[in-house]
Amino acid sequence: MTDQNTRKMSFDEWDEVVRPAPETTDFDAVVSSALSRRSFLGVLAFGSGAAAMGLGTAAGLLTTTSAEAMAASRFAFKPIDIATDSTIHVPEGYTWDILASWGDKLFSDAADFDHATGGDLASSDKIFGENTDGMEFFSVGERQVITVNHEYVNPEINLPKNADGMPVSADDVRKLQNLQGVTVMEVTEGNDGWKVVVDSPLNRRITHLTPMVFAGPAAGHDLLKTEADPTGTQSLGTFNNCGSGRTPWGTYLTCEENFNSYFGSTDAAFELPADFKRYGVSNETRYAYEKFDERFDISKNVNEPRRAGYVVEINPADPASTPVKHTGLGRIKHENAECALARDGRVVVYMGDDERGEFLYKFVSNGTYQTGGSTEGLLDDGTLYAAKFNDDGTGEWLALTEESTGMSLAEICIFTRMAGSKVGATTMDRPEWVAVNPIAIEAYCALTNNSRRGLKPNAGGDETPVGGPNPREKNEYGQIVRWYPENDDHADLKFKWDLFVMAGNPAVHKDAYAGSANINPGNMFNSPDGMAFDTRGLLWIQTDGDDSNEGEFSGQGNNQMLIGDPATGEIARFLTAPHGAEVTGLCWSADLRTAFVGIQHPSAPFPDGEGKLPRSCIVAVRRADNALIG
Ligand code: FEO
Ligand code: CA
Ligand code: CA
Ligand code: CA
Repeated sequence: MTDQNTRKMSFDEWDEVVRPAPETTDFDAVVSSALSRRSFLGVLAFGSGAAAMGLGTAAGLLTTTSAEAMAASRFAFKPIDIATDSTIHVPEGYTWDILASWGDKLFSDAADFDHATGGDLASSDKIFGENTDGMEFFSVGERQVITVNHEYVNPEINLPKNADGMPVSADDVRKLQNLQGVTVMEVTEGNDGWKVVVDSPLNRRITHLTPMVFAGPAAGHDLLKTEADPTGTQSLGTFNNCGSGRTPWGTYLTCEENFNSYFGSTDAAFELPADFKRYGVSNETRYAYEKFDERFDISKNVNEPRRAGYVVEINPADPASTPVKHTGLGRIKHENAECALARDGRVVVYMGDDERGEFLYKFVSNGTYQTGGSTEGLLDDGTLYAAKFNDDGTGEWLALTEESTGMSLAEICIFTRMAGSKVGATTMDRPEWVAVNPIAIEAYCALTNNSRRGLKPNAGGDETPVGGPNPREKNEYGQIVRWYPENDDHADLKFKWDLFVMAGNPAVHKDAYAGSANINPGNMFNSPDGMAFDTRGLLWIQTDGDDSNEGEFSGQGNNQMLIGDPATGEIARFLTAPHGAEVTGLCWSADLRTAFVGIQHPSAPFPDGEGKLPRSCIVAVRRADNALIG
């Protein structure tokens, strides 16, 4: 794939375009059934039944005028306008500074960043990696540590000397492999702001080559065995690390998303196994790893792609620790892994599978977590469930078991999508991040968009009818669904749900595509993606959408970060990204006076000026008066 347009796509966009498309079926013939705005409100009214039961305030969301909402606002900032320029904007009284950019040194023996070459191979695993994504903040004794994902690399930017940015040698491939994965870095705050502690003993780069182990039901299964690892228990590297999570015991979870695109075939006639089609593994790759690193050649190592697509646990306090791939959490295109505790102490992990028409999952451990107790097996022994949403505002978690799927436990963990199809889970509009409210028993999932909703089945042939939490055909704007577990228990198998917001464009549309009532021309956005709750129970929403500011998206400007109040439905714009970038990754300092925000795939001239390579980065956002921000 050398087409110029595809080179400039974000990884998610590229994967959508290039991955094998499902064959056309009768479902293509479904006639347009776009909801009117009136009937859309009817859909939401089902959800607001939960509010009537005292479980939420969705009804308030629909009736509160913006003036009333503002009067009761819990937001400490004046919302900002859209932007279309190449810098970052935050509200009056707030500041932002770059903490770390691609190429910054984690170790002093790395070379200074070179805009001509994008950095050399020898330094590529000693520097802050590319395309920052999910991140978490940890206190390790007296030290402060940020763990952050590096989701993918940008052809043309990371190998700027190469035509189309394509690797032409094993060294090029190795450099790209080193620029991705995870950074663990100590940070400190001084008079001139936050800085990375270069050479900290806690600093670590985890790449596409770092040794790790498999745990859980699929560890050692034949489908995970390769010539290099005949035991099926050892893995090299973690791939396309998108969203994140943190366990109750203080470890980091990094989530492998579009892993499929690293694998290709040197034999163009290689016939793809059926499971490759469901996961989008094809003979074609984005980076041509397979030409220089045989491990990524599926015609020679057919099991290698089955060893990616997992949630990986990393201990930020021990740089010598071996990362663990937890097969018990399933193999999907993992967005993030949001942990909660059930009433009885079992560990619940919510996980979205970011692909059009794929499912929303949760894992519930068999064992319980006790502070300071053993955590052995808590992410390995348990049950996976896929969500089924009913149109009447109720829903249930369908267990993926040998009985319900006809698959072995290991197969459920490796071919999780197929297990979800077998039980009839609800096909969703690309589930991205899940966030659990720390002050209420409820969870939110960003359904970013789905150009095929109501038009085409998912890659497994499951239909994607308009309805429930996916109420718009050809959904370009996205929505955020939330659910309230029965009995106020995240382990309960029943829930009520509603939509917290339906993004849209009220300046262009008068129907359902105008968005829900809490969307107006002053706060509109498209494609919600990253989400996290602050300690006050406010929902921070990051977007990864169309920033053309034209047509369907006119008046929406660059990607942005907004803050939503679950109690009132109010949503206000807090930050705008430089043009070309998405906002992804969010965590707070231990003292809650700094919010760290990720800026992924910006376009030049951000941040270093015209003629320089654009660099993804983490920015530290603070209040000028040093008050709390989270
Ligand atoms: Fe990497 Fe679905 O975002
Ligand atoms: Ca992204
Ligand atoms: Ca994302
Ligand atoms: Ca996205």
